[in-house]
Amino acid sequence: MGQNFFDNEIVFRGYCELRDSDSNCNILMEQPEMAQLLPELKGQCVLDLGCGFGHNCIEFIRRGAAHVTGIDISKKMLTVAQRENSHPDIEYINMSMTDIDRINGCFDLVYSSLAFHYIEDMPKLMADIARLLKKGGILLFSQEHPIYTASENGQGHYLFDELGNKSGFCFSHYQVPGERTDEWFIKGRKYYHRRFSDIANAIAWAGLCIQNVAEPVPDENMITKRPKSDAVHNPLFLIIKAVKL
Ligand SMILES: C[S@@+](CC[C@H](N)C(=O)[O-])C[C@H]1O[C@@H](n2cnc3c(N)ncnc32)[C@H](O)[C@@H]1O
Repeated sequence: MGQNFFDNEIVFRGYCELRDSDSNCNILMEQPEMAQLLPELKGQCVLDLGCGFGHNCIEFIRRGAAHVTGIDISKKMLTVAQRENSHPDIEYINMSMTDIDRINGCFDLVYSSLAFHYIEDMPKLMADIARLLKKGGILLFSQEHPIYTASENGQGHYLFDELGNKSGFCFSHYQVPGERTDEWFIKGRKYYHRRFSDIANAIAWAGLCIQNVAEPVPDENMITKRPKSDAVHNPLFLIIKAVKL
């Protein structure tokens, strides 16, 4: 069972506001790259881990998916999903993805956007996902980038030029995987740092083969909307697409 951080009232309200803004980094950087890597979904069965408000679940139905299962540990997130993104072919389940070894089913796509860094045991998660995927099935996920999760104080250390603009990003403790805590809306957000090799090995040990790795770069639209973004100095997101052979 992971930390149910998003059910905290302050976090939930803050996150709703963040997602309502059209200049957040998910919308500008992470979602476009994830969409490009999606496989053909006509008639496919999809499992979305940490589905949040269900935006992606309903998008999979729009793209022709036959059935979508969305799992989230947060009741508050799923209440919004049921209200705003329900469909007869979407089933939302309130459970932790650490317990998906209890699910039976066979999926063409296991998808997860920005949730895996909340999970401590990545090798187990990958093994559970591999068991749920059909042969030839795809895992597509994004997470906070390991350079971003590395530092033990939960923050990077920005360098500034003489005008006060961010000019660089330093990080520490990259080689020390494990739990981190930081302040995001409230103190005490818990997540897990893994080196890129830990992530790639967990995928390989589960019998999945990496097809694509992406580290989204801010485009002109992002730089216009967020001129002070730090994403030119350090990658915010790591995206991996893998296939079950
Ligand atoms: C940053 S939000 C992303 C939501 C959604 N995937 C999206 O992109 O809009 C992370 C989500 O992961 C969920 N989550 C965190 N830990 C989880 C766990 N152990 N099992 C299932 N969901 C989890 C949170 O409740 C939250 O809804």
